[in-house]
Amino acid sequence: MSTVLVTGGAGYIGSHACKALAIAGFTPVAYDNLEHGHAEAVRWGPLEQGDLADRARLDAVIAQHKPVAAMHFAAYAYVGESVTNPGKYYRNNVGGSLNLLEALRDHGIDACVFSSTCATYGVPQHLPLTEDHPQKPINPYGASKLVVERMLADFDAAHGLRSMRLRYFNAAGADPDGETGEVHDPETHLIPLVLDAAAGTRPAITVFGTDYATPDGTCIRDYIHVSDLADAHVLALRALLEGAASAAYNLGNGKGFSVREVIDCAQRVTGREIAVSEGERRPGDPPVLVGDATRIRNELHWLPKLADLDAIITTAWRWHTRLDAGIRG
Ligand SMILES: NC(=O)c1ccc[n+]([C@@H]2O[C@H](COP(=O)([O-])OP(=O)(O)OC[C@H]3O[C@@H](n4cnc5c(N)ncnc54)[C@H](O)[C@@H]3O)[C@@H](O)[C@H]2O)c1
Repeated sequence: MSTVLVTGGAGYIGSHACKALAIAGFTPVAYDNLEHGHAEAVRWGPLEQGDLADRARLDAVIAQHKPVAAMHFAAYAYVGESVTNPGKYYRNNVGGSLNLLEALRDHGIDACVFSSTCATYGVPQHLPLTEDHPQKPINPYGASKLVVERMLADFDAAHGLRSMRLRYFNAAGADPDGETGEVHDPETHLIPLVLDAAAGTRPAITVFGTDYATPDGTCIRDYIHVSDLADAHVLALRALLEGAASAAYNLGNGKGFSVREVIDCAQRVTGREIAVSEGERRPGDPPVLVGDATRIRNELHWLPKLADLDAIITTAWRWHTRLDAGIRG
């Protein structure tokens, strides 16, 4: 069975990708320092604890497991923190990725699927965002991801390390079987925060900005189910293993939901009242981010199964209630 190195495999999206890889017949080897990941989320292959900064450890893990490819999720992903502490983001997201790419090159691995982000686009000049939209990130997090996209292109040109750069919109939801889900600390993503408010573990959900030029005044985002995201990674990996050239793909559902719509949907799904408090706009939050994923649908035949917001929130709520009951998976 072919092995795939999954950096960040103990994290939210990485753990779902490990499950998708196992279902597709691969052995995922999770490489994670567990700073933000969870050992118990690694259920579909071995966990190799290690840091991207530790080149010797990376080499040893690659030499031992002989992966045919890498999926690279490991990164810091808090936009606000990246603004106040950019060095932390460039060191880990750029420096760590450089270590990984050099290790892949030196071990003769020529395929990498990379977690990029819609944050590389910056403020939309047109909507929905297509892959050829200018990439002008407005925060260090997005900039760090854009640098890695550039490094990947350069490593392809120089060393034949081909990559799929997947630009996610907002990942949400949890494994429909309840085997893994989202556990961030601190949590900054809207849906788990709304569900905290529904569960009563948070007094209210704060809506940052209610005066945007959107139909209900709140920000609009494109939510993609994490399992659909994981499936896209397997399609991208298969394409690389079959010799495909490097490419960049958006991953979103092409439909935006406002913060108020998400809260309304969560009230419906959970059957609970959700208290809302109104806060100031956060700097750097574009009013609307919606992606066009036509390219990956056409070229890799990606077909999301859980595109509906109700389905996304239903799986997230199921996971949330298990977590509150102290059960993981
Ligand atoms: N969650 C989203 O909506 C979203 C959107 C766009 C892009 N992304 C990207 O997807 C990837 C995964 O995001 P997530 O939400 O699963 O985050 P996460 O924090 O749950 O997962 C990241 C994992 O990487 C590990 N890690 C970080 N730095 C490491 C290092 N130096 N060495 C080894 N392990 C390290 C962490 O311990 C964690 O388990 C990230 O690269 C993120 O930037 C996420």
